[in-house]
Amino acid sequence: MQGAQEKKVFYRSPGKEYPQVERARGVYIYDTTGKKYLDGASGCVVANIGYGVTQVADAMGETAAKISYVHSSTFTNQPQEELARCLAGATPGELNHTYFVSGGTEANETAMSMALQYHIQKGSKGKYKFIGRTLSYHGSSFGTLSVASNTARRRLFSPLLLPFPLIPAPHCYRCHYGLSYPACGLLCAKALEQVILAEGPENVAGFLVEPVIGTSAAASVPPAEYFPLVREICDRYDVLLIADEVLCGYGRSGKFMALEHWQVEPDLLTLGKGLGGGYAPLAAVMVQERIHRVFCENWGKFVHGYTYQGNPVCCSAGLAVFRYIRQEKLFEQLPEKGDFLFKGLKALAKDHPIIGDVRGLGFLLGLELVRDASSKESFSKEVQAAEKARKISMDKGLLLYTGVGGTADIMPRDYLLIAPPFVISHSEMEELLSILDASLTEVEEKLL
Ligand SMILES: Cc1ncc(COP(=O)(O)O)c(C=O)c1O
Repeated sequence: MQGAQEKKVFYRSPGKEYPQVERARGVYIYDTTGKKYLDGASGCVVANIGYGVTQVADAMGETAAKISYVHSSTFTNQPQEELARCLAGATPGELNHTYFVSGGTEANETAMSMALQYHIQKGSKGKYKFIGRTLSYHGSSFGTLSVASNTARRRLFSPLLLPFPLIPAPHCYRCHYGLSYPACGLLCAKALEQVILAEGPENVAGFLVEPVIGTSAAASVPPAEYFPLVREICDRYDVLLIADEVLCGYGRSGKFMALEHWQVEPDLLTLGKGLGGGYAPLAAVMVQERIHRVFCENWGKFVHGYTYQGNPVCCSAGLAVFRYIRQEKLFEQLPEKGDFLFKGLKALAKDHPIIGDVRGLGFLLGLELVRDASSKESFSKEVQAAEKARKISMDKGLLLYTGVGGTADIMPRDYLLIAPPFVISHSEMEELLSILDASLTEVEEKLL
């Protein structure tokens, strides 16, 4: 603790010792002691194109030298214009307009604000409530915490949070209703209609969801009919469907937009993390043409804003990341690579009784660690099984991401997210699986 007092940084966990990073290239990070880590989680599902891509760094440098900053109320800039055009072209249907911000929390907070103002301009002043789901995380602001289930982060601030309703997330491994798909009849989707009716449709502005659940349930994928049904219900009551794809979007799930897996379009789509690829803080809200039109034809402005929105240097990083993905055909490789990794994890599950479930889509994969795979009995919270696995893996040179402590839900579960940079090679995936194998063996020796 004394060492921490001498240092001048206020760390995420004051008192904890952090290795200092020296450099990174491809899928590897090196610390100042020379230790090498294979990044199996792209940081926190951010570094999608890997580290050290000089064409991104060059683009940022060129933009910074030309125009480092402009205030968005006065000017637009070329990288922002160009990136918005690329995103409109990459998303299906009429998701044509993009509002750029700096991070996922800002994106979701902005989307909520946009949804409210959209309804007000249309004359539905009462529509101010948002519905969220259990097993969700949308950011650290009071607004986004109000519409998520994350107890660890909500508890401290509960007096300041808004009393928005949450419905059970679709999570078949541990169904909220104790049922099995498809006999369940999709009760988790039907709960949306019940809650809209209970709150009064005239009061409900939007439904905020992570199409593939990230840190709160380690890559849990909904059943096929879930999103088509949700879309229908939202349309019936003029409730905007806001897809939080900050983590699962931008190719991570194997499609540009995760909702494409179910041929569903959201009204608003939030992106973050991989959009800047870790090269710059960048996130976005994309909106349907008809929503944008309401802002054009009524107030002519969106009453909101951040100092750094649409920053030229950040947008040039985003544009260079987008171009790199296209140039290297990274999205195209994901289904095959994802399949390779998924099969590798499934094979590990045969040898490791501690693996209760392997799940996910594309390059967003998750493991749930359990004491007993047949009964799905979890470890108690104190055991910190996933955290132990993360630490042991890190000692062995593999970085994994766990929701425990930060984004764990009301029921503490042991999750490991495996989401390496898209550029990982097959031999690097084999290395990842081999270190994970050795790490899980060590965890089992300690815990089982
Ligand atoms: C699904 C989801 N939404 C929003 C956020 C918040 O993003 P940020 O940390 O960039 O504010 C996160 C962060 O982990 C996330 O996973």
